[in-house]
Amino acid sequence: MGRTLRSVSGLSGDAATAPAQVYVGMGSGDMATSKGELLRATAVEEDTSSLPLPTLLKPELKHGKKPLFDLMEAIREIKVRTFDPYDSFCVYLAMMDRKWCSLTFLTSICLILFLLGSYAAYEHFRRVDAREDNEKHYVTLQVEASNATGRPIPETLFGIFFEEINHAGAGGLWAELVSNRGFEAGGQIIPSSIWPWSIIGDESTISVVTDRSSCFERNKIALRMEVLCNSSGCPSEGVGVYNPGYWGMNIEKGKKYKVTLYVRSTGDIDVSVSLTSSNGSLTLASEQIIALASEVSKWTKKEMLLEANGTDDGARLQLTTTKNGSIWFDQVSAMPVDTYKGHGFRNDLFQMMVDLKPRFIRFPGGCYVEGDSLSNAFQWKKTVGAWEERPGHFGDVWNYWTDDGLGHFEFFQLAEDLGAAPIWVFNSGISHHDQVETARIMPFVQEALDGIEFARGDANSTWGSVRAAMGHPKPFGLKYVAVGNEDCGKKYYKGNYLEFYNAIKKAYPDIKIISNCDGSSQPLDHPADYYDYHVYTLAKELFSMSHMFDKTSRDGPKAFVSEYAVNITDANTGNLLAALGEAGFLLGLEKNSDVVGMVSYAPLFVNTNDRRWLPDAIVFNSSHLYGTPSYWVQQFFTESSGATLLSSTMEGNSSYVEASAISFQSNGSDYIQIKAVNFANVTVELKVKMTGLDSSNTKASAKKKKVLTSASVMDENSFSNPEMIKPQESIGVMSEGNFTFVLPPYSFSSFDI
Ligand code: AHR
Repeated sequence: MGRTLRSVSGLSGDAATAPAQVYVGMGSGDMATSKGELLRATAVEEDTSSLPLPTLLKPELKHGKKPLFDLMEAIREIKVRTFDPYDSFCVYLAMMDRKWCSLTFLTSICLILFLLGSYAAYEHFRRVDAREDNEKHYVTLQVEASNATGRPIPETLFGIFFEEINHAGAGGLWAELVSNRGFEAGGQIIPSSIWPWSIIGDESTISVVTDRSSCFERNKIALRMEVLCNSSGCPSEGVGVYNPGYWGMNIEKGKKYKVTLYVRSTGDIDVSVSLTSSNGSLTLASEQIIALASEVSKWTKKEMLLEANGTDDGARLQLTTTKNGSIWFDQVSAMPVDTYKGHGFRNDLFQMMVDLKPRFIRFPGGCYVEGDSLSNAFQWKKTVGAWEERPGHFGDVWNYWTDDGLGHFEFFQLAEDLGAAPIWVFNSGISHHDQVETARIMPFVQEALDGIEFARGDANSTWGSVRAAMGHPKPFGLKYVAVGNEDCGKKYYKGNYLEFYNAIKKAYPDIKIISNCDGSSQPLDHPADYYDYHVYTLAKELFSMSHMFDKTSRDGPKAFVSEYAVNITDANTGNLLAALGEAGFLLGLEKNSDVVGMVSYAPLFVNTNDRRWLPDAIVFNSSHLYGTPSYWVQQFFTESSGATLLSSTMEGNSSYVEASAISFQSNGSDYIQIKAVNFANVTVELKVKMTGLDSSNTKASAKKKKVLTSASVMDENSFSNPEMIKPQESIGVMSEGNFTFVLPPYSFSSFDI
């Protein structure tokens, strides 16, 4: 800033509107309070870049100068500058002090002051109005409400993706309470670890070791227990082993648990099978196995029903005895009797899935299907048949053992129970670290064909008969398969894919085949019915991707967005911000459902005792669970699959609002549903203007409103506050034709009209 000529009466801008500051800047000795002295402001030249504003004001006491000169000079100064109240006040002071004022002059000054004041007030309110107008955020959604111009949304648009990750199945949905029930988790080389089994007693009374004496050919490891109590006998509570399940078993008073085990001994046995509190001090249920040596000299299956007389969600299963001798145990299972339809699915977790009304279920995983190495990939044939005969396997991507109670059959059963189309993902001969050359891929192709036959072959077919023997003679309705997971860039993928594709299409022409290669921006160079699309990113990024399929070619295979989520720091363990980013993305997918055929979030479940990936949609431990905001966002789309997408366009001043309109039927009534996400910290008014409305819809009627929001966009649900962020529903009555809704800051809303 350069040098500026300024005077006290010539202040403009901010200082001129703040006369109080002017006086604060004066030294008390300079005040115009001294009798007979005139306060005169002289022009001073100051460098404004270095001086604070008040020091620019240099009042001087002038002795011996003619008052007229002083007054005229002041008035002249006023004339050459924009007049302001402060100037006039100085003049007024001067006049009053010298008694030079006349009535006319004063009246003029007053009039000028009045006019100036009025103008200032007018300006002030005009500016405030303008500001408020700018801050008012609004959007208008123009909806063509007639079904005739709408577009059908695929029946299978919204579904779920179940992966064995985070103990989603083992220690989760699959209700088996015993972990490592066959003692195979420690590997096939003996002696092996029996983790998480532990010993009750000390080395002087008991020794435990694994051997390969099991009666089950595919899982030879068994547990051998030597009880060596001295002549005074074993402790009264007995010695033995216990299994803590998956970070504690949830045992509930009055409920029944079916315990099955295989036992063998060289002598008579008397074994207590008990469910106890976490340290064994409290018995919740117990049964005895008493048998003569002759009965148990060979492997013998024992089953019992234990009814709990107490509740403990950190309970354990104990096998104890006070009798010396050698006892072998294998395939020890404890299943709650109360599972969904007795099919083995934990009821509360199953219900969370049902509530999403999934139209498909992709399983058994993504990376879980690939494996870090092929030898640890999911191999469906090892997961079917009697549960006791399944070897189980170590999932080396998510690093935990699974007994494979939730196997190929159970996944199809799960799909059927959910009323969801099964989508089976099989290995394409590629893991994270090894690949099978296309020239050698045929055994993998045959494995896939057999897996399909298991699901949909008739009960006399080779693999259909295995399914029938497991209790499901009727075929499962398998119509979609995915060849591999995230393998498109791998050297042998496309070659392998074509072998799978040709063989499957030949045997099952109606099966839709999903490729791992992305066809969203350019056509695929190979035949496919769908292409798999995965995205994990930041909230803002995913929100902005709501338009990514707008430009996708309308020809060719559709997208299967089988994994999407906001992750990294934006999401923490599952917050509102992540969910809103996803809501924007999903609205875009819904609107592009002519080229996007199926959509599922990932991952679905997490047991908090062993988080391998976050965030996730459903969080649980042995007894509690809650949905993250991402779970609740999915619930907003439960009416979408099979509905009609209404054509809509949005106008307004908010780039952070996405919205869609659909029509659907429920209980014989027609509804129009508007969904809108507000991804900013401001309130937005959404006006919905509809054309083509049926007259019955324009009448005043009850409207269901659902809003998902929270005090802070970083808020998350938790075990202690599981429903802090959950859609709040209300019913409102709207007057005829008035479809104006308020979208709270950072919120996702739906309105059923
Ligand atoms: O959903 C978690 C993992 O993310 C899946 O296993 C994999 O497909 C993706 O990389």
